Amino acid sequence: MTVTNDIKYIGVNDHEIDLFEGQYIVPNGMAYNSYVIMDEKIAVMDTVDQNFTDEWFAKLETELAGRTPDYIVVQHMEPDHSANLANFMEKYPTATVVATAAAFNMMKNFFGKDYADRRMMVKEGDTLSLGKHELTFVMAPMVHWPEVMVTYDSTDKVLFSADGFGKFGALDVEEDWACEARRYYIGIVGKFGAQVQALLKKAAGLDIQIICPLHGPVLTENLGYYIGLYDTWSSYGVETDGVVIAYTSVYGHTKEAAELLAKKLTEKGCPKVAVNDLARCDMAEAVEDAFRYGKLVLATTTYNGDIFPFMREFINHLTERNFQNRTIGLIENGAWAPMAAKVMKGMFENSKNLTFTDTTVQIKAALNDASLAQIDALADELCK
Ligand code: FEO
Repeated sequence: MTVTNDIKYIGVNDHEIDLFEGQYIVPNGMAYNSYVIMDEKIAVMDTVDQNFTDEWFAKLETELAGRTPDYIVVQHMEPDHSANLANFMEKYPTATVVATAAAFNMMKNFFGKDYADRRMMVKEGDTLSLGKHELTFVMAPMVHWPEVMVTYDSTDKVLFSADGFGKFGALDVEEDWACEARRYYIGIVGKFGAQVQALLKKAAGLDIQIICPLHGPVLTENLGYYIGLYDTWSSYGVETDGVVIAYTSVYGHTKEAAELLAKKLTEKGCPKVAVNDLARCDMAEAVEDAFRYGKLVLATTTYNGDIFPFMREFINHLTERNFQNRTIGLIENGAWAPMAAKVMKGMFENSKNLTFTDTTVQIKAALNDASLAQIDALADELCK
């Protein structure tokens, strides 16, 4: 696949993977992108996952057409991209590896060697001329690991963006970009909003016509749309006006309350209401929703003096990703000593800029007149 006259795509699609990074379902598979820049000197941009060694080398050899690569640029050491680095260095013994100091430390840990005699260690603003193409290396620590850098090709105005602007899904499947890019971003990079903001500020100073990420499609048009979403996500802004209700339910009473609240919100004209059963939905999708919408309602039962395990897991996913700038409403259920609301609220004690609704719904086993009135009051508050 051609990106520009000189930049070729040599990535692979993975439809065999069950869980990406050991935890994310990927119904449409995953793409591990890699590129080669053909110039007087040839640079390969990252490798691919260990299960695609032969396919990747075959694609690379086709583009090389008998030539030998001069550089392998390692932007990120996570094995979905670096797994074939040692194979590459063995196959092309005259090639130089280009990476950050932190990446070379990781190479030693992953491969037992850091290529001291065949390496170019780069830092912020360093450049590499391939002939016509000049590459500038831009440090992007914690987007998504500490050794990450991105690379700007000022000749073709291409940003090789590492994990940034990536998404779940193989490239031979058509699907909406934002849905799986959001789930990917929030799940994988969501904690590091400040670092993504820093990278976006640096990128704003570059004339970028094409974004070449390590996952997902090459972005060639309407780049303002993608950059705008990244700005919203990384600043923990509200992307979509609406309410997401996340619940767990044991015998159906908490579910009944969650669904009744959703109905009342819809009747009152709430622009979007999303409801997630945390025991049955994709947890990453529920987490994505919490970061997408401006208001979140958590409904769960008191359980072993704590809260139901799926809700505890869900809130942990939010707080470890720096969940902030949102309104939260609580619904608790407890047949004899309800304490779920107190536990849930306590789990957010170190989170920034959260507003809890005045109304908390308390159910003692099943809905009654008092709890029904509280649901009405909560719906009113959330629609104000
Ligand atoms: Fe696609 Fe952070 O690796």
